[in-house]
Amino acid sequence: MNELPKLPFDNPAVMGIAPQMRTLQKEGPIARVRTAGEDAWLVTRYDEVRKLLADRRLGLSDPKPERAAKNTARLTMMALMAGDDYDTEATEHPLMRELLVPRFSTRRMRLMKSRIESHVDELLDQLAGSAPPVDLHRALSFPLPTMVVCDLLGVPLADQERIGLWARGTFDQSDSEHSVNTFQQVVDYITELVIRKRTDPGDDILSELIAQKGGSLSDEYIARLGCAVLLFGYETTIVRIDMGVLLMLRNPDQRAQLAKNPGLAPAAVEEILRLAVGGKGSNALIPRYAHSDITVGGTSIRAGDAVLLAIGAANIDSRAYPDSDLLDLTRVKPRTHMAFGHGTRHCIGRVLARIELTAVFERLFRRLPDLQLAVPEESLRWQEHRITGGFDEIPVTF
Ligand code: HEM
Repeated sequence: MNELPKLPFDNPAVMGIAPQMRTLQKEGPIARVRTAGEDAWLVTRYDEVRKLLADRRLGLSDPKPERAAKNTARLTMMALMAGDDYDTEATEHPLMRELLVPRFSTRRMRLMKSRIESHVDELLDQLAGSAPPVDLHRALSFPLPTMVVCDLLGVPLADQERIGLWARGTFDQSDSEHSVNTFQQVVDYITELVIRKRTDPGDDILSELIAQKGGSLSDEYIARLGCAVLLFGYETTIVRIDMGVLLMLRNPDQRAQLAKNPGLAPAAVEEILRLAVGGKGSNALIPRYAHSDITVGGTSIRAGDAVLLAIGAANIDSRAYPDSDLLDLTRVKPRTHMAFGHGTRHCIGRVLARIELTAVFERLFRRLPDLQLAVPEESLRWQEHRITGGFDEIPVTF
């Protein structure tokens, strides 16, 4: 019998989909693959990935948790998404969404938009006033989303630096002790904040959560929701700002159009989100387990099987996007990409992330028209050991 393809697939490029992932996508919508933990079904085509993301017969929790050792970082992520326990996911996950989704109200997003835009202007002024080369990651990509998350949770801005290291530490798959210790710091910090906000509430998510369900939610439970917002709320966006800059620099014609017409920024953001896949691409896999039997493209998936939904590959499926590898700001009514997932666990912060990214890409290439990488792109190092991936620095001149 042939050996199964083994994840993570090698990827010689700094960004983009691994060649073996493309080959499997060409061959069919679903393939059996080997992973470090267990064998799984890998789904790579747009239509099938989208359908399965909305299919309630799939869940995040593992019906047979005893079979494979998952790393600590992955387990923490599952717990924060109320998907670590097969017996409670069906009740705990809807409760989490019921409590969190309304916190991202239109009113709050509108208020945050103008603050975000002013903050981007300030950061770009500072950057433009520095002597190049400058690390764009430090100067722009990092401070914007961390400021936004502080604002959301009512965290003092002075703690921004400290907080900024926590997502990386918690989601470090290579060092479980570091992951556990960092996550404990996050829990302690947010719990203390919840206790403070009980007596001194503000216009923030934690204060609103305290008032939900007649004030009956425990400090511990509110802190868990707060940790999810904190830890999912900035590193994801930091990585997309960095990758968006690299993608725009790779596409000088599109970049010139964007600099001339900032009205193209929302389209640029969607194309960036669609194409922003880094490293070996394993970060663009959404993990699920079949909670009952399902058939996909003629293949039977049995209850209990692990399923990996390759959103990065689906987002470049030529069946869904003509010239799918091209970054094209003028696509006419493109299908919605799945960078934010879809269906039952569709990203709760997607409106906010889009506001942040749009504020950046409306301004960046107008304010710094000569922006270029100060090093060859191949020298940038994707941080494979983090679930969130990403780069640690993006040196630029301007
Ligand atoms: C560009 C930035 C972002 C990207 C690419 C992103 C991506 C995603 C994806 C793919 C999922 C679905 C995971 C799954 O189905 O298993 C998700 C879920 C989630 N995201 Fe985001 N996200 C971003 C920004 C944010 C922000 C800014 C917040 C909050 C401030 C946030 C909070 C969440 C939460 C709480 C969930 C869990 C939803 C659930 O399990 O029901 N995300 N995100």
